Amino acid sequence: MSDLLIKGARIVDAGREMAGDVLIAGGIIEEVSEEIPPPKGIPLLPAGGKFLLPAFVDLHAHFRDPGFPQKEDLLSGSRAAAHGGFTVVSLMPNTDPPCDSPEVARYILDKARRIGLVEVHLVGAITRGLRGEELVDMEALAPYVWAFSDDGHGVEDHRLMWEAAKRARELGKTIYPHPEFRGLPSRELGEELMVARDLWICRRTGARFHMAHISSPGAAELVALAKEKRLPVTCEATPHHLCLSREEADHPVNPPISTREAVDALVKGLVEGIIDAVATDHAPHTDADVAAGVPGISGIETAFPLLYTRLVKTGTIGLRTLSRLLSLGPARIMGLRKRGLVREGFVGDLVLVTEEELEVTGDFFFSKGKNTPLLGWRLRGRVWATIREGEVIYLDGKVKGRDFDDHRQVIRGG
Ligand code: DOR
Repeated sequence: MSDLLIKGARIVDAGREMAGDVLIAGGIIEEVSEEIPPPKGIPLLPAGGKFLLPAFVDLHAHFRDPGFPQKEDLLSGSRAAAHGGFTVVSLMPNTDPPCDSPEVARYILDKARRIGLVEVHLVGAITRGLRGEELVDMEALAPYVWAFSDDGHGVEDHRLMWEAAKRARELGKTIYPHPEFRGLPSRELGEELMVARDLWICRRTGARFHMAHISSPGAAELVALAKEKRLPVTCEATPHHLCLSREEADHPVNPPISTREAVDALVKGLVEGIIDAVATDHAPHTDADVAAGVPGISGIETAFPLLYTRLVKTGTIGLRTLSRLLSLGPARIMGLRKRGLVREGFVGDLVLVTEEELEVTGDFFFSKGKNTPLLGWRLRGRVWATIREGEVIYLDGKVKGRDFDDHRQVIRGG
């Protein structure tokens, strides 16, 4: 909960663009205007004409803790998030043990709170052990999670999904399917069939559904139809499914990277407003995992530069739309209030970005996972500073707790 004055920024959010200053007091945005005279004793961050956006919110990340600290842990994941411009992350339950009980949920939330770098929210498992056989105790998990998902596996049993949706509705929680039936003639059909089934369950139960990593244009079309019917459904797509085609970046990830034609169709869905959020599906793995072909992309740090280069610089979408997809959209899906815009009364979570070019190398990553098809790529759009509740948690290559302790050490006026 800090005070901070940011001066001389190009302020952009989902609704407007303006040149000006932002004053954060006690962690909350107090004023946004063309010129704010510096109040005494408040640290000053000169923005030098950089873009100032609401900080990003990631609906879908894997920090691998508990269970796989060699891939990532809550500290390295939090640092990677701050480096990527994210101050809120929602973590998937495929840890070991999986997040299918209050004990595991409490372990993660307590540890994340002690680290204190970014705000961590949880998605709980739908089935015990993510085995797809019996439901978790959803009532017991409900106080710790905003949604339920067996991410990594589709819940193939219709009865189980039906029951989960009914309970989620009673508990006021969201069902977050990983839409994939395995063993069908095509991967796209597997995604489309599960989206269709889940939309029908959504319609019949009235439960809120948020569809994970939509990659097939057919699935996006089904979500569009459901939205026309006013079903309580939203969906996300990942930076890699929106920006990379199989022809140029062949990297194992689930769902797989699509053909150029399918990517273009998915981007069309994005432009038409069918896709509500971009979520990274940050899935860090070790070099040994990569050699063994384990699917996943370490993507929380490259998300903004990749989207900026491939979608904004090309004129496909504007920066305001990208801000909606990375901040306001996901915040609304998670039910977070007063987040995702640079407005008075909103939480003082902001990110400053530049047009600068960067090269994606192993050293670029704060994450333990360097598994990405982007190694050696040059991208535009660098996250320069990440601010959480008025406190600078990342600035120009340095992250709080590793490279500095008090944000006033790294900015003027402290
Ligand atoms: O590629 C993937 N990796 N897709 C998933 O759904 C899970 C993720 C992981 O946890 O590694």
